[in-house]
Amino acid sequence: MDRASVQERFGIIGSSPSLRHALDRVRLIAGTDITVLIQGESGVGKDLFAEAIHQLSARRHKPILNVNCAAIPEGLIESELFGNEKGAYTGAVERRTGYFEEANGSTIFLDEIGEMPLTAQVRLLRVLETGEFSRVGSSAVLKSDVRIIVATNKDLAREVARGRFREDLYYRISTVILQIPPLRDRKEDILPIFSSFQHRFTQKYNSTLKRLDDSARELLQNYRWPGNARELRNVAEQMVVLNKSDVITVDDIRSYLRGTIASGPELGLMPVPHETMGDGADSRERELIYRTLLELRTEIHWLKEKIIEMTGRPKASWEGSSEAEPSRYMIVRDENSDPVPSLIEDAAFEIEGAGAPEGGVEDHVSKAAENGELPTLEAAERKLIEEALERFNGNRRQTAQALGISERTLYRKIKEFEGEDA
Ligand SMILES: Nc1ncnc2c1ncn2[C@@H]1O[C@H](COP(=O)(O)OP(=O)(O)OP(=O)(O)O)[C@@H](O)[C@H]1O
Ligand SMILES: [Mg+2]
Repeated sequence: MDRASVQERFGIIGSSPSLRHALDRVRLIAGTDITVLIQGESGVGKDLFAEAIHQLSARRHKPILNVNCAAIPEGLIESELFGNEKGAYTGAVERRTGYFEEANGSTIFLDEIGEMPLTAQVRLLRVLETGEFSRVGSSAVLKSDVRIIVATNKDLAREVARGRFREDLYYRISTVILQIPPLRDRKEDILPIFSSFQHRFTQKYNSTLKRLDDSARELLQNYRWPGNARELRNVAEQMVVLNKSDVITVDDIRSYLRGTIASGPELGLMPVPHETMGDGADSRERELIYRTLLELRTEIHWLKEKIIEMTGRPKASWEGSSEAEPSRYMIVRDENSDPVPSLIEDAAFEIEGAGAPEGGVEDHVSKAAENGELPTLEAAERKLIEEALERFNGNRRQTAQALGISERTLYRKIKEFEGEDA
């Protein structure tokens, strides 16, 4: 398949030399079983590329298994990936099949590989080298024919230097590195991607196509796009939904670049500097309480789920695998799902017992405050997290640091919100 057909088929837009180079590599390696490491900042399209590699391979007849290493609690990752014997650990009441067994004959996509704990890395290295693995709590050797694609937005070489990632594993997975550059380093791709999203959302929301004036185009091209194509998509969606005038100006675009302030058209926009999350001592205290509760609640929530899982929960109907129960860590793509996830739908948020507040959680929290009522804890913590994410332009590491929680906890919370919104 030529490059243009690959782009057309997977909706990968852009004609910059670096994107073309990445696409050419995809075409070269897709048909082999070679392990691929996809590196790039958040939102550059790593998932898109992983999907393309799988779909262009002979394994395409089976679904790709998408596992997010950051979303799995550290203590469970090995048994999730490789399975476990009954009694392998306290609470392992049943023998469990791991993803590597389930993915036999297909591709496994280990996203956020930089978050994989060191012990699990040892097992992964063994599978990579020999195709063999054992369930947790068993020494029986199992084999699985799996193609492995991994992705990260971290600098893995630096993680190795810091002792957080095994050097041997790094060398094993970095035979083929697919580097997807950030949008700001391939400016010529910005407007075409934006325009494609604009068309898709215009259709989706039954709107009319608006024209961007030169100043708006210039800003789009010169903005840093820390959230890359994902951020571009969000701006396009807001613009389509919220803009009433026929011509879009630089001011319109600027208003959609949330959490940022203008600093001249050439530099684009710079992030708002980090300040404390509230004003007075009261708000700081509240924040501290929320933070502690947030950590606690997340842990309890996950423990609860795990207990339900271990003591047997109702089987969900699920397509994608013959027998195995679905796991929340595994994402199997739904062919019929909307290819353009909706920001607007994402914003609809139901608060337990309160129905769906108009204007989402933020409104509910501030209205509750006006009425002198306390917002629900869920609403308050969600607001806190959303505000912090906005402040740090979606950068999870900085957000987690500012909130005083681990990246993993933040990750779980975001997934929870996504689940609530779905
Ligand atoms: N070149 C592109 N053309 C069109 N759409 C793109 C392109 N690159 C990314 N996108 C879109 O941007 C969004 C984010 O992409 P994707 O989820 O693949 O990013 P990612 O690199 O996996 O991010 P993360 O590290 O946060 O997981 C998706 O909606 C994707 O379809
Ligand atoms: Mg991704």
